[in-house]
Amino acid sequence: MKQLSGKRVLLGVCGSIAAYKSAELVRDLRDAGAEVRVVMTEAATEFITPLTLQALSGHPVRTGLVDTAAEAAMGHIELARWPDAVLVAPASADFIARLAQGRADDLLAALCLATRAPVALAPAMNAGMWENAATRANIDKLTRQGVAFFGPVSGALACGEQGPGRMIDNRTIIDKLAALFPSAALQGVAVLVSAGPTREAIDPVRYLSNRSSGKMGFAVAAAAVEAGAQVTLISGPVALPTPERVKRVDVISAAQMYRAVMEHAPAHQIFVAAAAVADFVPQAFAQQKLKKEKFSAEDGFVLRLKQSPDILAELAGREQRPFLVGFAAETESVEQNGCAKLQRKKLDMIAINDVSEGRGFDRDENELLVLWPGGRARLELAGKGRLARELMGLIADRYREHYEKNTT
Ligand code: PMT
Repeated sequence: MKQLSGKRVLLGVCGSIAAYKSAELVRDLRDAGAEVRVVMTEAATEFITPLTLQALSGHPVRTGLVDTAAEAAMGHIELARWPDAVLVAPASADFIARLAQGRADDLLAALCLATRAPVALAPAMNAGMWENAATRANIDKLTRQGVAFFGPVSGALACGEQGPGRMIDNRTIIDKLAALFPSAALQGVAVLVSAGPTREAIDPVRYLSNRSSGKMGFAVAAAAVEAGAQVTLISGPVALPTPERVKRVDVISAAQMYRAVMEHAPAHQIFVAAAAVADFVPQAFAQQKLKKEKFSAEDGFVLRLKQSPDILAELAGREQRPFLVGFAAETESVEQNGCAKLQRKKLDMIAINDVSEGRGFDRDENELLVLWPGGRARLELAGKGRLARELMGLIADRYREHYEKNTT
């Protein structure tokens, strides 16, 4: 299958010994159906000639920002508007640093700054450079801005060292690049998503809640729309705008979330439960504000909680059930506990996140371990938008398999 059919890819090449791999990468990208134009940094031309990449891409290769003949053919801003994705492979430590600073001091950096297309970097460098705190900070900053990082992997490096810094192989680069694009994988499928926290009232002014911001669930809803689905989003109280083309239903408490999901689930083929629903809610609601004078300092105030109904488990027990994707927020024995939830709740898939030490909740980035009966995938640390697209790709593949199995 041509994963990048018709996609325009602007390939940036930086000065690194791994630049020799760019020649094959151009060919592999074209084999995957992409149209490729190449921009090289000055340093890259020391490692591989523009002529080689021109012959392989079928287009002139650009190197300089100030090149009147090239500018007359396609100006650099026009070139920044041309691609569906910018891929820089190899991306050097210096280039990553310049990008993190928002510099536009050569053509490739200027294009990355000006483009509205997704930007992905496949780093290649010495292990010390990769592990250096300055590089780590640059990568964190760019990841938060939505730049995707493909690799690197550990292995033997050109400098003679062993360690992280080796550019990932072309096949993996192409798979990861393809995962950035919306697809029609869920065309005609109705997807229900839950997001955000719930609030459980204790009295008219106090409630129990959790740290969910709704970012993950909202990104999942947006990714489902991109994949062609009709999407209903049931959201707890969050301060986020509704993604385009999403029908939103607002709820406050776990009981309201339960009722809304049960009402909408029958009209949806997939349910992705990203909401952090309260497992325990106050047993009673005090009609008036609880006065502290009513409680002695010695005895304190004892709040009795009761279990709330498990929404996913209840849906899983139904004969007509949607394809069920749960999330698991774990702080210890992460994989083991997540796997147990997949089995106990009889889910079709689970996305497990480690939420210890402030991870996961109310962050712009996250990482997930996705499990399903007989399979698994690790989605590396990335912005929640990209992560949601990758997750939706996995869901679409598994849903199709599941659907085909149940209709033949
Ligand atoms: O919202 P963000 O700030 O972006 O943070 C994202 C997140 C950490 C909230 C998200 O990635 C996540 O992990 N969501 C699920 C949180 C959670 O409640 O996990 P859990 O392990 O307690 O629950 C497991 C699953 O059961 C979840 O899919 C949950 O929606 C579901 N559940 C829980 C309780 C309940 N009564 N009924 C349910 O269906």
